[in-house]
Amino acid sequence: MEAVVAAKPVIKVAALCGSLRKGSYNRGLIRTALEISKESINGIQMEYIDISPLPMLNTDLETDGKFSPVVEAFRQKILESDSILFASPEYNYSVTAPLKNAIDWASRPPNVWGDKAAAIISAGGGFGGARSHYHLRQIGIYLDLHFINKPEFYLNAFQPPAKFDSDGNLIDPSSKEKIKEVLLSLQAFSLRLKVKSK
Ligand SMILES: Cc1cc2nc3c(=O)[nH]c(=O)nc-3n(C[C@H](O)[C@H](O)[C@H](O)COP(=O)(O)O)c2cc1C
Repeated sequence: MEAVVAAKPVIKVAALCGSLRKGSYNRGLIRTALEISKESINGIQMEYIDISPLPMLNTDLETDGKFSPVVEAFRQKILESDSILFASPEYNYSVTAPLKNAIDWASRPPNVWGDKAAAIISAGGGFGGARSHYHLRQIGIYLDLHFINKPEFYLNAFQPPAKFDSDGNLIDPSSKEKIKEVLLSLQAFSLRLKVKSK
């Protein structure tokens, strides 16, 4: 007799980059995450969501709880996802302004971040952006975003040997392996949250 194995539900992940720079290393981390989720993990459907078209938050741009089409489209993408992958440098020890702006837009009532799982990966200077992780986790408290605790991923982008090529693509095999571990942890946690919410 054939064993019946229940299929794992597919987890929809929205990947956001906190840097608007064309050659962003953090967007390079997202390209790696997209590649890994397509090629070596079953059950993750990841989409990169560009935050650069969002206007600076101004509640005058809301009319009767309605948002501009660009903001509405972004909020809808977040709403439809099960989990969020944040890839961002730190600016002055904290979350970047573009990322905070995107977070704030999607937090306007009704908050669309609630009850989602999330993970942070970062590339930056000395500490690889790690200090901003704790600010982002703190912001997540009010939004009801649930971050995986481990593994943590932060990469010093400037320390030799080179971790990125001249287009901002990650070329370091051990970092790729660590990103895969983050994605597996995010997937497992998202599945636990999904089961609990049923
Ligand atoms: C306004 C600003 C502030 C920065 N502050 C920090 C910082 O506090 N810590 C750090 O590691 N790097 C800092 N950096 C350097 C960035 O981490 C570095 O430029 C990184 O490559 C940016 O990520 P990206 O390649 O994805 O754009 C700062 C850069 C800018 C533009």
